[in-house]
Amino acid sequence: MSKLPHIGTSIFTVMSQMANEYNAINLSQGFPNFPVDKRLTDILSRLTTENVHQYTPMSGYPPLLDKVAQLTQQSYQRTINPKDEILITAGATEGIFATIQALVNANEEVIILDPSYDCYEAPILLSNAKPVRVPLNDDFTPNWDTITAAANEKTKLIIINNPHNPTGKTWTDTDFIQLEKLLDSFPKLLVLSDEVYEYITFEQAHISVHHRPKLWNRSISISSFGKSFHITGWKIGYVIAPENLMREIKKVHQFLVFSVNSISQVAISEYLDSVDVYSLGSFYEQKRDFFRDLLKETKLQLLPCEGTYFQVASYANISNEDDLAFTKRLVSEFGVATIPISTFYANGKDTKCIRFCFAKDDDTLIQAAERLIKL
Ligand SMILES: Cc1ncc(COP(=O)(O)O)c(C=O)c1O
Repeated sequence: MSKLPHIGTSIFTVMSQMANEYNAINLSQGFPNFPVDKRLTDILSRLTTENVHQYTPMSGYPPLLDKVAQLTQQSYQRTINPKDEILITAGATEGIFATIQALVNANEEVIILDPSYDCYEAPILLSNAKPVRVPLNDDFTPNWDTITAAANEKTKLIIINNPHNPTGKTWTDTDFIQLEKLLDSFPKLLVLSDEVYEYITFEQAHISVHHRPKLWNRSISISSFGKSFHITGWKIGYVIAPENLMREIKKVHQFLVFSVNSISQVAISEYLDSVDVYSLGSFYEQKRDFFRDLLKETKLQLLPCEGTYFQVASYANISNEDDLAFTKRLVSEFGVATIPISTFYANGKDTKCIRFCFAKDDDTLIQAAERLIKL
């Protein structure tokens, strides 16, 4: 019997396959199509002939752990202990999986705020625990009444994702104050904070759990070098957690991968000396504005985009089709692949909205817009 009977092939795989089949422009899956920084590829090339090819320590290459601690200090003014509070993972995905497997027991509950990214539910089910889906408000802000009503003594984790995939929404101080109140009411509750787009915010600066001392002992944060350095295929990220939780997370990590591939750890550790992560926001802000300007010529209605490299648009005044049918037609007839937002809801709620990834070079975005104008 399947252990995950309701989980099928992800929509990202389905849409990318359709994009290939129809030779469409792929704005579905969240990955950049522009070149990686030459400084990083030069470091990588040089390292291939150096002595960097054997296992690193289980929790990560020590100089990289130090650099992550420095980055956390610079970005969030928080001092963390590289030895006990950081774990280098095979992408954010492995960090999320290891955290949930390590901390969530059978019959406990985990709150997921819908719409949500798809990698949270499977590890919860594999822990024999219960995912509790709580809808965000229509403007994708958290609804603290429904969240509080969904929490109880069995709730072990609340998963937050800020900046948010798929909606591009970012959290405010007020949201964090409410989260802290929730934690006061439920002393066992922990926060899994998926911050893979932490360096991709626009008008409002990113607020991390690391900015909020009240959350430090109760939060596990997840980061992705793949997202921050345009290298999603490298599958490398990291987890920061208090030592007592990290001890448990490492126990799972050591039997999932033991250690993450060595050469990318060494390369990123060197690259962190020269890269300016803080320029990422303005880089993607220009792309967002460029793409939004192009889409103004179409009949699509654009929702706000405060962070991430995703733009959500409503097609409600173009078609009555459900969003899956609409996105399939968009690929097959118009040659543009996108993601239907209903797939981010456990109940498949259809809001007639689709998600574009604008982490693409300008030519790709221009060509996509030329096709979308025909809608
Ligand atoms: C919100 C969110 N979390 C986690 C991930 C996974 O990141 P990684 O590729 O580093 O595993 C993604 C990737 O799209 C994401 O959008």
